[in-house]
Amino acid sequence: MGSKYVRVWLLAASGLVIAVLLGACSGGDSDSSKFPIDLTGSRVAAGEEIYAQNCASCHGPVQGPVVLAAAPVHGDAGHTWHHPDRLLHQWVLDRPPLATVMPAFRGVLSDEQVLEVLAYIKSTWLPEVQERQDLGSRQYEAQVIEDGTE
Ligand code: HEC
Repeated sequence: MGSKYVRVWLLAASGLVIAVLLGACSGGDSDSSKFPIDLTGSRVAAGEEIYAQNCASCHGPVQGPVVLAAAPVHGDAGHTWHHPDRLLHQWVLDRPPLATVMPAFRGVLSDEQVLEVLAYIKSTWLPEVQERQDLGSRQYEAQVIEDGTE
């Protein structure tokens, strides 16, 4: 093999190594940028529809009152905002811990649709509530990355 080919081969191989390293650093399928949830206008609009069809029958309007007594209110007066986005997302997909009534939405709503419905819920919160919950979500993400549970 001529030295020219060796050089080309080395160049290609090092490119591959860099690509693999970059992939590893960004965490594979990388949902690290998914939380806290980005509240884009289209997401919030799609989420409003999803909420009306899938959640309001028990939870009532986001800011209350609830329809089903056991269902928590998702508004400023409730405690949904005490939880980080990553957990809320997981709970809607697979039910909150110890849930008895709340259904799992995995297979009913897509991953993105759950982000949308949460974006809508978050968009109804007072600015100071949004800020505090956003901070909590960021702190939680920092812990997830530190613990290597991602
Ligand atoms: C059949 C009634 C019902 C429906 C439909 C329902 N929930 Fe719930 N949800 C509950 C109940 C009741 C709880 C409290 C836990 C329990 O006892 O199951 C709960 C708990 C929760 C919690 C955790 C507590 C909190 O406030 O943080 C979240 C988040 C939540 N629901 C979001 C949703 C979203 C989003 C939807 C729609 C995609 C939805 N729920 C649809 C009844 C329901």
